[in-house]
Amino acid sequence: MAKSTPVFVLALVAFGAAVTNAQPFTVTPQQFEPFPNEASTRIADNYTGFVFDYDKGTPLTVTPNGMLIPNQVSQNPYLSTLPDGGNGQAILRLGPCAGNTPHTHPRGSEISFMLYGTAEFGMVEENDGNNKLVIYNITQNQTIHIPQGILHFSHNPTCEPAAFLANFPNRDPGVQSMWPSMMRIPTHILNGATGIDERLINGLKAFPIVTTPGTGGEECLKRCNLTFAANNVLTPLNASELVA
Ligand SMILES: *[C@@H]1O[C@H](CO)[C@@H](O)[C@H](O)[C@H]1NC(C)=O
Ligand SMILES: *[C@@H]1O[C@H](CO)[C@@H](O)[C@H](O)[C@H]1NC(C)=O
Ligand SMILES: *[C@@H]1O[C@H](CO)[C@@H](O)[C@H](O)[C@H]1NC(C)=O
Ligand SMILES: *[C@@H]1O[C@H](CO)[C@@H](O)[C@H](O)[C@H]1NC(C)=O
Ligand SMILES: *[C@@H]1O[C@H](CO)[C@@H](O)[C@H](O)[C@H]1NC(C)=O
Repeated sequence: MAKSTPVFVLALVAFGAAVTNAQPFTVTPQQFEPFPNEASTRIADNYTGFVFDYDKGTPLTVTPNGMLIPNQVSQNPYLSTLPDGGNGQAILRLGPCAGNTPHTHPRGSEISFMLYGTAEFGMVEENDGNNKLVIYNITQNQTIHIPQGILHFSHNPTCEPAAFLANFPNRDPGVQSMWPSMMRIPTHILNGATGIDERLINGLKAFPIVTTPGTGGEECLKRCNLTFAANNVLTPLNASELVA
């Protein structure tokens, strides 16, 4: 190191001279950052969204069974300033027998932490796993892990309230609900896939779709003195889209 120092100093002097002889050295941050970067976007946003208050957040859905409150980029633009796709969260509050209908997240694995109560969490493995059903009850302070894109669901099997906090490695993990998606597949395609009578398929298509959080499980409803219809918000699908 000692031997090479004079050479290094000489090189620096020569470099400095070359720069001085050419242009004044006036590099501004803008020359390195010509486009808005994450920090400048956060500053422009004035850090609205640095703190997200679930009690003040706008629920995506409210039903008599509970509510779904997302902290995702559509609700919190601050999340768009986090690198590598950012992060997202959601709280699902579940009343007795309430649940999240079967769905997948196309852009994010899910890690869900039980805030209070109990939830029966299940997922259906991909074809290479023989579509194995994996289902567990999780209770307060436990976490479950759902792989990206895997079909899953949850249900409160008790007569007490429950809630969990879902975390995603993506500001916009997306949701695809299984039943409304299935019901939009033309009847003859479903008939070809299952052999089920087309009139029966059209009968299923005539049922309204349950908005999450929905409720159900005949045994649970009976045990908790609830009825299905009285405790659900039902959103009819657009019939002209359904009947194929
Ligand atoms: C940014 O937030 C601070 C603290 O809440 C506030 O005092 C200030 O007025 C805000 N500025 C703008 C431009 O909104
Ligand atoms: C979860 O607990 C309920 C009772 O609260 C029980 O009926 C159900 O079978 C349990 N589910 C699993 C997957 O163990
Ligand atoms: C969950 O953790 C909190 C904080 O440590 C504790 O007060 C609570 O008793 C725990 N719940 C259960 C069911 O162990
Ligand atoms: C349901 O109703 C029965 C009969 O009125 C009562 O004994 C039971 O405690 C009720 N259960 C709940 C969970 O409210
Ligand atoms: C139902 O779907 C049809 C076909 O896509 C569309 O033309 C119509 O506007 C929709 N009606 C409603 C109420 O959304």
